[in-house]
Amino acid sequence: MTQKLQAVRGMNDILPDAAEQWLAFEETIRTWLHRYGYRNIRMPLLEHTSLFRRAIGEVTDIVEKEMYSFVDDLNGEHLTLRPEGTASTVRAAMEHNLLYDAPRRLWYIGPMFRHERPQKGRYRQFHQVGVEALGYAGPDMDAELLVMCARLWRDLGLSDIKLRLNSLGSLPERMAHREALVAYLRERRDELDGDGTRRLETNPLRVLDSKNPAMQSVIDGAPRLLDFLGDVSLAHFDAVKRTLDDAGIAYSIDPRLVRGLDYYNLTVFEWVTDRLGAQGTVCGGGRYDGLFEQIGGKPAPAAGFAMGIERLLDLIEQAGRVAKHPGPDVYIVHQGDAAQKLAFSVAEQLRDAAIATTLHCGGGSFKSQMKKADSSRAAVAVIIGEDEVAAGEVTVKPLRLDTPQQRVPRAALASSVGAVIGRSMIGQHSI
Ligand code: HAM
Repeated sequence: MTQKLQAVRGMNDILPDAAEQWLAFEETIRTWLHRYGYRNIRMPLLEHTSLFRRAIGEVTDIVEKEMYSFVDDLNGEHLTLRPEGTASTVRAAMEHNLLYDAPRRLWYIGPMFRHERPQKGRYRQFHQVGVEALGYAGPDMDAELLVMCARLWRDLGLSDIKLRLNSLGSLPERMAHREALVAYLRERRDELDGDGTRRLETNPLRVLDSKNPAMQSVIDGAPRLLDFLGDVSLAHFDAVKRTLDDAGIAYSIDPRLVRGLDYYNLTVFEWVTDRLGAQGTVCGGGRYDGLFEQIGGKPAPAAGFAMGIERLLDLIEQAGRVAKHPGPDVYIVHQGDAAQKLAFSVAEQLRDAAIATTLHCGGGSFKSQMKKADSSRAAVAVIIGEDEVAAGEVTVKPLRLDTPQQRVPRAALASSVGAVIGRSMIGQHSI
């Protein structure tokens, strides 16, 4: 027996009703990004595996356990479906010398791939909107990124998303902290799990992102990176906090926030909600001043964030903000060959006038066509039968108003339909 074909586990179809939500979300996103001066960039879904190994770090969950990597049979290249967008954006900026004369504010949207255990809010193909501010060194940019997020939550009508903030300082500060951390973890080696024991030697900071409850007391007692920051890093962090205070954005400092990717320094943050169960982080980001150099480019400071679209849409739905398919403005029903010919050209005439028009296809009685017109949610049915063809007219039947149908000459059709649509819209709300 042939196996029933299904989507790959953890990868979802987004069906038309759900896609309405995505479209509405994407519209809000585009307006929001435009307001902050961001420009769109689109990178390939596949990159050389070495890019992610070098950018995200060899000893991270993503690189160790979650990447969809394979060898291309045709030419032996080692490729990976992108697990995130920052590495690709930096690679593209380097490759095309985008920072040659000025810094850049860039954004992207699209699918990312991580081989995680699927559960609600966690998928193997998921989608992010990401923002990367390339070439900006100051805390003003870190603060702007956070102010921007806060505005988006308002634009989307979302409350209860809380900001957690930390600073990872500079490399020498992290090295000093690392030494103290390793000494501490060695003393408590018995309490570490398998990953913890291995990471103690390879990347001890990663021991702190363990989700294993048995490790929490070790993690809680560990030396804090924040205590190792020098004046310059502290001043950067203070400036970010001050701007947030001025903007009235609440935050909590979380000294354990280390993020799951190695490229960060100084400011790191996550926006978290408790309305989504275990997968409550809707957005994460921070500064990554070393990344350009790390992947072989000229050094350039940068900061950014990415948000999980599925998680945000879940919150939007919980808030009761549902985008419905608006339906066409007009559904054209017709009967007979001459009427069909006229219907085709009337449909184009309406579309010329920016009126969304569905032309009935597939034949059937007037009655069954009218049923389809009704369920299409169109505001108006335009009816074309033999009588109309003979008279050079069409019938305009409002479907959502208590007003009678009308025969109008073709030349008056668009304005007649426009008037009905206008009246049908009064009192209706989109999301
Ligand atoms: P990240 O924290 O790995 O950061 O991912 C950002 C967001 O993507 C998460 O907060 C979450 O909302 C969503 N996300 C991650 N994994 C999944 C999953 N398996 N299923 C559903 N949603 C998920 C980054 O990716 C960095 N590139 C962010 C960044 C940009 N940093 C600087 N610039």
